[in-house]
Amino acid sequence: MLFLIAGIGLACVAYAQTTVQLNDSQMWSASIASGDLQHYYFDTAAQSLPGLQEPEAKSVYLTLTSCSQPIAPGNYEGEVPSLNMFISTSSEETTLPGPSHGTMVNDTNLGRISWNSGGQVQNVWIGVVAPTLTDNWSGNWTYQIAISTQGWMHPIISDNDGGSTIFYLEDTDDTHALFTASGEHQKDNRSLLVASSVAPELRYSLCAVDRAAISDYTVNTTRTADGQHFLVSNLTSNSSYMTYLIESTGSLRSMSAPIHIQTKADDNCRLIYGLGFCDQVAYSVPAKASDTTDSIRERYDDQARQLFEPFNIAISQFNCETTQYSLVRNCTDCYQDYKRWLCAVSIPRCTSISQTIADTVAVRVVDANESRNPWIDETLEPGTWTELLPCIDLCYQVVQSCPPFMAFNCPKGDLASLQYGYWKRSTIDANGMSVQLGPSYPTCNRMQLEEARLVLSDASQTPLMNYSILLIILSIVLLQA
Ligand SMILES: *[C@@H]1O[C@H](CO)[C@@H](O)[C@H](O)[C@H]1NC(C)=O
Ligand SMILES: *[C@@H]1O[C@H](CO)[C@@H](O)[C@H](O)[C@H]1NC(C)=O
Ligand SMILES: *[C@@H]1O[C@H](CO)[C@@H](O)[C@H](O)[C@H]1NC(C)=O
Ligand SMILES: *[C@@H]1O[C@H](CO)[C@@H](O)[C@H](O)[C@H]1NC(C)=O
Ligand SMILES: *[C@@H]1O[C@H](CO)[C@@H](O)[C@H](O)[C@H]1NC(C)=O
Ligand SMILES: *[C@@H]1O[C@H](CO)[C@@H](O)[C@H](O)[C@H]1NC(C)=O
Ligand SMILES: *[C@@H]1O[C@H](CO)[C@@H](O)[C@H](O)[C@H]1NC(C)=O
Ligand SMILES: *[C@@H]1O[C@H](CO)[C@@H](O)[C@H](O)[C@H]1NC(C)=O
Ligand SMILES: *[C@@H]1O[C@H](CO)[C@@H](O)[C@H](O)[C@H]1NC(C)=O
Ligand SMILES: *[C@@H]1O[C@H](CO)[C@@H](O)[C@H](O)[C@H]1NC(C)=O
Ligand SMILES: *[C@@H]1O[C@H](CO)[C@@H](O)[C@H](O)[C@H]1NC(C)=O
Repeated sequence: MLFLIAGIGLACVAYAQTTVQLNDSQMWSASIASGDLQHYYFDTAAQSLPGLQEPEAKSVYLTLTSCSQPIAPGNYEGEVPSLNMFISTSSEETTLPGPSHGTMVNDTNLGRISWNSGGQVQNVWIGVVAPTLTDNWSGNWTYQIAISTQGWMHPIISDNDGGSTIFYLEDTDDTHALFTASGEHQKDNRSLLVASSVAPELRYSLCAVDRAAISDYTVNTTRTADGQHFLVSNLTSNSSYMTYLIESTGSLRSMSAPIHIQTKADDNCRLIYGLGFCDQVAYSVPAKASDTTDSIRERYDDQARQLFEPFNIAISQFNCETTQYSLVRNCTDCYQDYKRWLCAVSIPRCTSISQTIADTVAVRVVDANESRNPWIDETLEPGTWTELLPCIDLCYQVVQSCPPFMAFNCPKGDLASLQYGYWKRSTIDANGMSVQLGPSYPTCNRMQLEEARLVLSDASQTPLMNYSILLIILSIVLLQA
């Protein structure tokens, strides 16, 4: 490695210190003790071969990630303070940036500090500063620092793409977690990283996450229409993990924002997905612990297919091609929205009672043998379970999409909130952990309905239409057809 004496070209250097010269797009790892200051230097011109090219100013990307941090004394309850980074791009300002010279980089995000020069620069001087701790702390910080003229060396995958979330949790059961990643780019090089407990201060540092990663889990990746499903197996029940989506391009690894997961404590909720008929189901359903996932999936799917049959016959009696009943919806929409609704009510979503966000989500405790659909108790015997209610939007979509002759209505008022939930998007605090209600932490079962269509409606409807009533109406319609 190449060391320069700090302050080269300056008249006097009061203390012997070294400045490490960083190379373009190369990671450098170091350890720093409490109260220390370490210096780095980058010269864009030093990267081009002498004589072949004119020295060139370039835009640079600088990142530092903390891989580990000192251990706090036992009685310490606050956060572990983080490293700071100071920069200078002019030797006249300083070549030894630190708390008393240079500019502090304030774009920090839980273990990751980043700076982009924006415009073109020739030289960058960097100071890395460790906070001063009392004697009761033990150990150093370790970190990675990298600078590049090409792009970030510690990239973060953007959370969403045109408003839709790219990576989110579908659901967990006692030993599994299912994730969805949408989007087509780099799809073959995506993987999941599961960590047991990442220090909260280091959640956006991939080298820290690597150290906390667990190894005894398996991931099964399957294609979806617009991305992939990742099923993580072999997790421990009633346990908490942090999960990241990793996209690799050569040796460069980009990471997503972390998703915190908690496996369920009870074994009567089973994660199912990939159903032939109800293809939007990707969540846990009430079931008996001893049944196989394949048989649970098939029985639910077959039952939904059977329940759908009267509707299928009814809609086929209606002359879809020639009868326009709406300017914006047609029979295809009606078919899809009815099917989505029917799958949601006939394949209920099971959730965990112990969830600390229980008071904000739409749940209903179902006592043993009290399932809305008695078939569930007869064939799947889940015992007592908790339902995450379908989003009321699933019902509204059917009303809007289907021909009026079907007389499909949604409940309103108190009845609506007994049978359906409302989609919420906010950040709440659950036991000191900030939880972002939304795709990964839904407040109702949306059945993959796009968030843009989850618009709350205050449309007045006649009360209660449960699906046994609906089947009766459909039979009447059928007889009259
Ligand atoms: C920069 O590259 C040179 C030549 O390959 C190498 O000797 C040196 O150790 C590198 N410096 C760092 C900080 O990686
Ligand atoms: C802690 O960091 C200092 C540099 O600040 C280094 O000299 C020392 O060896 C490190 N200690 C450990 C245990 O890594
Ligand atoms: C730090 O933050 C302030 C205000 O948020 C901003 O004006 C300043 O440019 C930032 N400094 C750097 C080095 O990013
Ligand atoms: C640090 O240790 C000293 C004794 O060695 C003790 O008096 C002091 O309270 C400790 N401070 C903290 C923050 O634990
Ligand atoms: C599942 O986890 C157990 C320990 O919890 C471990 O012994 C086993 O190897 C793991 N299986 C796989 C396939 O990772
Ligand atoms: C992955 O999941 C698919 C669909 O559920 C299944 O067919 C396949 O056997 C699984 N692969 C492994 C290795 O478990
Ligand atoms: C995917 O990974 C392989 C091997 O790790 C690599 O050769 C390839 O370039 C990567 N593809 C993309 C699109 O990043
Ligand atoms: C789940 O874990 C919590 C603590 O992490 C514990 O209080 C609770 O009793 C556990 N539940 C079950 C059913 O084991
Ligand atoms: C219904 O409308 C969609 C576009 O909104 C169209 O793609 C589809 O072909 C239509 N279906 C029928 C049966 O007309
Ligand atoms: C549920 O019903 C089954 C069969 O009807 C019965 O054997 C079982 O005891 C019932 N369970 C409860 C808790 O009522
Ligand atoms: C659904 O309708 C049937 C038939 O009218 C009724 O017996 C049942 O109690 C209703 N279920 C709910 C949950 O309202």
